[in-house]
Amino acid sequence: MSWPATAPALPGWAKLWRSGMDEGVRDGLGDVNALASELIRRRYSCRTYRPEPIGEVERRRLTDYMAGRTAGPLGAQARFALVAAAPGDASALKRLGTYGFIKGATGFIVGAVRRAPNDLEDYGYLLEQIVLSATDLGLGTCWLGGTFTRSSFVRRFGGLAHNETLPAVVSIGLIGDDGSERIREREEGSRRLLSSQTFFERGFGETLDLSRVGVYAEALAAVRMAPSATNKQPWRIVRDGAAWHFYLRRTKGYGKGSALFTVLRIADLQRVDMGIAMCHFELVARERGLTGSWVVRDPGIPLPGKDTEYIVTWVGPS
Ligand SMILES: Cc1cc2nc3c(=O)[nH]c(=O)nc-3n(C[C@H](O)[C@H](O)[C@H](O)COP(=O)(O)O)c2cc1C
Repeated sequence: MSWPATAPALPGWAKLWRSGMDEGVRDGLGDVNALASELIRRRYSCRTYRPEPIGEVERRRLTDYMAGRTAGPLGAQARFALVAAAPGDASALKRLGTYGFIKGATGFIVGAVRRAPNDLEDYGYLLEQIVLSATDLGLGTCWLGGTFTRSSFVRRFGGLAHNETLPAVVSIGLIGDDGSERIREREEGSRRLLSSQTFFERGFGETLDLSRVGVYAEALAAVRMAPSATNKQPWRIVRDGAAWHFYLRRTKGYGKGSALFTVLRIADLQRVDMGIAMCHFELVARERGLTGSWVVRDPGIPLPGKDTEYIVTWVGPS
């Protein structure tokens, strides 16, 4: 697992640019230092971009940052690159199964992950860190899930190895719309499930009392703000003492096993959503000085239904 519970609480450890990066990359990052919680609040799905390309400095910072995102917390190996947009991308995205209209993106963050038991969660976790680093640079982003494996995005990425997949991409560019309305709606909760629908205590029968979890409430708020495919927010978290068990509650008729996803061979995007939720939880927990590490060890808590499955546990200090 990526970060041992004994990891030193370095000053700035939880700052996004620094967390989990090797020394070489960390040294090259200079003064970029925004708090993850602030970036999580600022990020939204930007679907309209300005025509000017991303500046050279920002492009280099982003590329340096990506170079440090190669190992997921659950053991999968990934790699990412920034590719330039090409004419016709907006309509190609539709054919590849994405929804919404992406207007004027000048680039895409494309990645590949090697097949492994938790490859999709790790992909979501790593790419969301890159998304937040782009947010720090003032850039707009939008996650896009579709069938990319045989698309021109793969060619521009330089191809995939036989054991790699490309589960989702992220459009990127200078912000052309005003996200303030979306951010406000999200913060007011009108576009999010209630905490009582997603966070539980000991088992799925008892709602978690957020007033009794201290600063973990902020880590949970960061999970609630996370992006997810069609905004389904499939994460469910059960707290049991120092353990925070993450479950995936699948949306009926969407994702793995659904006709749409089977025909289009779209990746199991709700597992990518889980990785994004893990990323937000951990970044804010660490920012607030809470140490911990990820383990995959099913606690055997009775599940509310067949649509719910155990994914991973964050173990904090007891
Ligand atoms: C894995 C994944 C796939 C997504 N696919 C698309 C997509 O194909 N088209 C799109 O417009 N938005 C897509 N989104 C963005 C979500 O619709 C968005 O995150 C959600 O509605 C919440 O809004 P927010 O990101 O502004 O907070 C995707 C998000 C995730 C995490």
